[in-house]
Amino acid sequence: MNKFKIIGPSKIEGEIKISGSKNSALPILFSSLLTKEDIKIKNIPNIKDIDITLKLFKKIGVLIKKKKPLILNNQNIKNINLPYKLINKIRASIWLIGPMLIKFKKVKIYTPGGCNIGKRPINLHLYGLKKLGAKIKLKNNFIKIKIKNKKLIPNTIKLPQVSVGATITIIIVATLISGITTIKNSAIEPEIIDTINFLNTLGANIKHKNNTIIISGVKKLHGGIYKIIPDRIETGTYLIGSLISKGKIICYNTNPNLLRYVLKKLKVSGAEIKTGNDFIKLNMHKRPKAINIKTLPYPNFPTDLQPQFTVLNILAKGKSIITENIFPNRFNHVKELIKMGAKIKIKNNQIICKGIQKIFGTTIYAKDLRSAASLIIAACVAYGTTIIKDINFIYRGYENIEKKLNNLGIKIYKI
Ligand code: EPZ
Repeated sequence: MNKFKIIGPSKIEGEIKISGSKNSALPILFSSLLTKEDIKIKNIPNIKDIDITLKLFKKIGVLIKKKKPLILNNQNIKNINLPYKLINKIRASIWLIGPMLIKFKKVKIYTPGGCNIGKRPINLHLYGLKKLGAKIKLKNNFIKIKIKNKKLIPNTIKLPQVSVGATITIIIVATLISGITTIKNSAIEPEIIDTINFLNTLGANIKHKNNTIIISGVKKLHGGIYKIIPDRIETGTYLIGSLISKGKIICYNTNPNLLRYVLKKLKVSGAEIKTGNDFIKLNMHKRPKAINIKTLPYPNFPTDLQPQFTVLNILAKGKSIITENIFPNRFNHVKELIKMGAKIKIKNNQIICKGIQKIFGTTIYAKDLRSAASLIIAACVAYGTTIIKDINFIYRGYENIEKKLNNLGIKIYKI
């Protein structure tokens, strides 16, 4: 497995071009399976999760006409039994169910994988599918789904808990079911809205207001061209990195409206922030103030920036509590940060930080995508050399990270 060697402390300083959103590109790619016509998708990030998705697409017969910008044609997809090792690599593979069910009236699929941040149940996806007329048989590690009386039905679905994944699954299936399907208590992350906008470009008829999504089914979708929104989590990761290094950074090709709540918290911690419609400038002169945060569905603080924000709090002035309300086990970074000298303890779903002035380089282990990101920014500001092992997780979600950090003044080497 690859390792990173990072020599600190350095300021994360300069300009960075933000890539397209991983968590928008994935649902949009799977939704594109609903149409038989050519689709052109721009601003897709060049990351591992996309590579795995395209490998999976090729297996089911998707025709990749061009890589950049991506041009796909999905008219000849087949309902084959996909290899476990491919399905199990990414959580997003669950979104295959919708298009396969619509096209072939039945689907058999292994239950998907993803980062190890706690068990990744799919009960809410299955709850939505059943409400739309699907018959589900759960086996030990795969599911068989078919349509009761050969017809999917529109319905009103009140999700018992907010779920990005389940909201997408229901949108994908309901898009082509004639009649009105309403999702209540839906997730409204920007990536969900991006997927809705994408499907509407192809002729779907989907509206959203607060946490309600109304889908009026259409007969079929046509082709189209679409550009993915910027990655708000990549943006937040570099902003937090620059802040804790007392640096100054311009993130361009991004959109400040995607992370208003995060920017507010960074300002409270002492950062000077200026924004335009496609850039965010951050300038930090002093040690950040400790900030309590609670991760919650959008528009609140995103769980995907919790590990990175933990690094801010371990170096901040004062004590702070981070409450992780979304994933039961998103604490893989804590043990590693303690090895660097951080004063942290975990109590139930809370990370209690006591800010210190310095952390020190040592050998640490990445365990999932966002914990890897948090360890990388910690290593940038740590005194001495840090070796981060099992660093391959980072390539799932951060395009060209070594090059981008090198351009921001960081001494980072893959070994
Ligand atoms: C999506 O995961 C994102 N992944 C995650 O990003 C993100 O953290 C998460 O949404 C929350 O914003 C992609 O978009 C590919 P959920 P997803 O369904 O769909 C539980 C990253 O780092 N749940 O909103 O899996 C679930 O276990 C990744 O980029 C059920 O109990 O998130 C979690 O505790 C990590 N049953 C909570 O709900 C279900 O059927 C939220 O999950 C589904 C989810």
